[in-house]
Amino acid sequence: MHKSTSLLVGLFFLFVTFLSCEGGSPETAATQPETTTPTTLKAKLKDQFYLGAAVGKAQIEQGSPATTELIKREFNTLTPENDMKWENIHPERDGYNFVTSDRYVDLAESSDMHVVGHALVWHSQLAPYVTEITDSSELATHITEHITTIVERYKGRIHAWDVVNEAFNEDGTLRASHFYNVMGEDYLAHAFRAAAAADPAAKLIYNDYNMWKPAKREGVVRVIKKMIDAGVKVDGIGMQAHWSLNGPELTDVENSIKAYSDLGVDVMFTELDVTVLPNPWDLEGADVNQDFSIYEGDEKMDAYRAGLPDSVQQQLAERYTDIFALFKRYQDKVSRVTFWGVHDGHSWLNGWPIAGRTNHPLLFDRELKRKPAYDALMMEIK
Ligand code: G3I
Repeated sequence: MHKSTSLLVGLFFLFVTFLSCEGGSPETAATQPETTTPTTLKAKLKDQFYLGAAVGKAQIEQGSPATTELIKREFNTLTPENDMKWENIHPERDGYNFVTSDRYVDLAESSDMHVVGHALVWHSQLAPYVTEITDSSELATHITEHITTIVERYKGRIHAWDVVNEAFNEDGTLRASHFYNVMGEDYLAHAFRAAAAADPAAKLIYNDYNMWKPAKREGVVRVIKKMIDAGVKVDGIGMQAHWSLNGPELTDVENSIKAYSDLGVDVMFTELDVTVLPNPWDLEGADVNQDFSIYEGDEKMDAYRAGLPDSVQQQLAERYTDIFALFKRYQDKVSRVTFWGVHDGHSWLNGWPIAGRTNHPLLFDRELKRKPAYDALMMEIK
């Protein structure tokens, strides 16, 4: 962060802290006559990119009205966190379950939100029967049926799809998933072609974590370029953005924005959150297969159970300010920024990589209040 920016964020943070001590808040303090100044981050960024959140099943099925209100007020795009993954939406070979996914789309439509379907083809959260299909043409046919059934159902109502999720290893080679093992690299192009045929207007995205890493970036660029050159419709690259207070370096992120947009596609930050808790092995990204259960209950790994101290709130505010300054600088290339969760109580990071922790990675706290990071973004992002 530039020193002057850091100073401004620091001063603003002190101001917000002062107001809170006085029992006020920037919102209650702002009792001046109404102006056209945006009062939400979504409104402030409306001409630059979509601002969204992933929403989970508990919220969709029996969530609090206050959280629904917050979702509608603060975000203009929504991603179902788990309910469109294969094991949930297509659990049996001949059986689909659209009950919950329909609810997401209804909620989004009730406030005119952009909807992202997540994720059509992913090795994780896959229905078990799929791994029994070991013939390549049979698997290809089944992928087509899966994609066609889901994408056609929501044609014109789901506006973008994570078509393939997490297909690459960290070194840029293709992950030896079931799809890869049976069909080879072709499964990616096959999935994108099926999605394009099912809804030609939908934005089709390749989505992955650690997309800032140079080796992974090179692998993704190589394969996606080959697909685009072969006439396959790919509209966007999703950089998940499960980050921390210290990493990744934003120069690496910037290099990836340039490299992916050079392919002629949009860049989306699809799963943004910033962990404030220590990561075992200095963990990066979001490989869900690692097991750190030995750390469960370890207080050193879960230091903010009682709340986030002011000093860390400020670090989070500075980190988010730097991140959004970068997004804003590349606003002609970045078309969406989605947070992975609505508020801290909803975040998957309370359960991963160590279960039962109290993390604080988002812009809203467990009481749905704006955190200093939100206020800093409102002040800093012009
Ligand atoms: O649905 C069951 C529920 O019936 C049961 O009571 C409960 C008890 O643990 O578990 C529920 O399932 C959990 C599910 O989330 C819904 O809460 C799973 O155990 C849990 O593994 C699952 O975690 C999800 C994770 O993907 C699984 O891969 C997280 O919520 C979700 O945030 C996370 O999202 C992924 C993206 O899809 C892809 N990128 C990485 C990102 C973070 O891992």
